[in-house]
Amino acid sequence: MSAILKANWNYPTTIWAGPGRIAELPAACAKLGIRRPLLVTDEGLCEAPMVRRALGLVPGTALFARVRGNPVAANIEAGLEVYRAGDHDGVIAFGGGSGLDAGKVIAFMSGQTRPLWDFEDVGDWWTRADPKGIAPVIAIPTTAGTGSEVGRAGVVVNETTHQKKIIFHPQMMPGVVISDPELTVGLPPAITAATGMDAFVHCFEAYCAPGFHPLADGIALEGMRLIQTYLPRACEQPTDLEARSRMLAAASMGATAFQKGLGGVHAIAHPVGANFNTHHGLTNAILLPYVIVYNRPAIGERLAVIARALDLSGEPFAAVFDWVLAFRKRLNIPHTLAEIGVPEESAELIGREAAIDPSASGNPQPAEAAAYARIFRAAVKGDLASTA
Ligand SMILES: [Fe+2]
Repeated sequence: MSAILKANWNYPTTIWAGPGRIAELPAACAKLGIRRPLLVTDEGLCEAPMVRRALGLVPGTALFARVRGNPVAANIEAGLEVYRAGDHDGVIAFGGGSGLDAGKVIAFMSGQTRPLWDFEDVGDWWTRADPKGIAPVIAIPTTAGTGSEVGRAGVVVNETTHQKKIIFHPQMMPGVVISDPELTVGLPPAITAATGMDAFVHCFEAYCAPGFHPLADGIALEGMRLIQTYLPRACEQPTDLEARSRMLAAASMGATAFQKGLGGVHAIAHPVGANFNTHHGLTNAILLPYVIVYNRPAIGERLAVIARALDLSGEPFAAVFDWVLAFRKRLNIPHTLAEIGVPEESAELIGREAAIDPSASGNPQPAEAAAYARIFRAAVKGDLASTA
């Protein structure tokens, strides 16, 4: 089995996929010319055996694990201090979305002289960066969801404004990705489901986003098909390496596809996460059907193709919508934001923030702050009909 599921890919970057390939970390460092790496990971993984093992693979590797879920700018600043004090020359970004994003942003900022928020993903602000000041990154995902290992951005919470900001530069794309499914077998089913649904929403929103991008569309459709088959398997049989391998690939596919754009699910999930520190994938998974109902007038043709890819019969909107609800239920995803502690009173704020979130530009049906507030309220209460 592992022989079949082992491969090297060269797009969107160098990816070494297969069970056990974490052992090739020294080769990845050599390939990128890294002699003194800083391994950046989520605080929850600080003592994890797989982190200890990775540290031992490359002598001289130091550890920085002060990265919370939904990382904040203070985490980046602390990481930069450690990076500079240790005279490091590259980053091993290791973990879930938070560890990967923090590692990428620390590497990006390591040689910059301007402050972090100068590099927010606005217009051509990325051209403010000195490309020679960007350190090389090896990305090692331990969840199958974010796809940040093949992304050119990192999400950081601005604690002053309670906004999630996207820090973007084309050179933030990691130079080598080690996609080792053995690192994900210990994930509990709830985290497997929530992160896997993030990957599904990446594929779904990218496919439904307007714009001419058949490459992204093709990757998104196959990503959804893989997740339909393998996410329940990965949840129900956590050590199933085939399911874990294909889910890791699907996660990378989601992030590759969303170079085309995202949409209303992410536009709302970002301010919800920034204000209430909710799990990103879980927030997306809850929101998805509410946004589908709102977008219905704009996505008929797209849903017809998705229905074919997922082998669903009947009228396409009903087929896809019903399948999404059933899939969510099978994965034990809650139906309302209230169930994860998000209050309805914040609707106006979330609506305003969603409307200006960069992901909003990819939503197929035009939406203003009031529409996003309405979708948010519906998702808090579980009132699907009210977003139509
Ligand atoms: Fe996401």
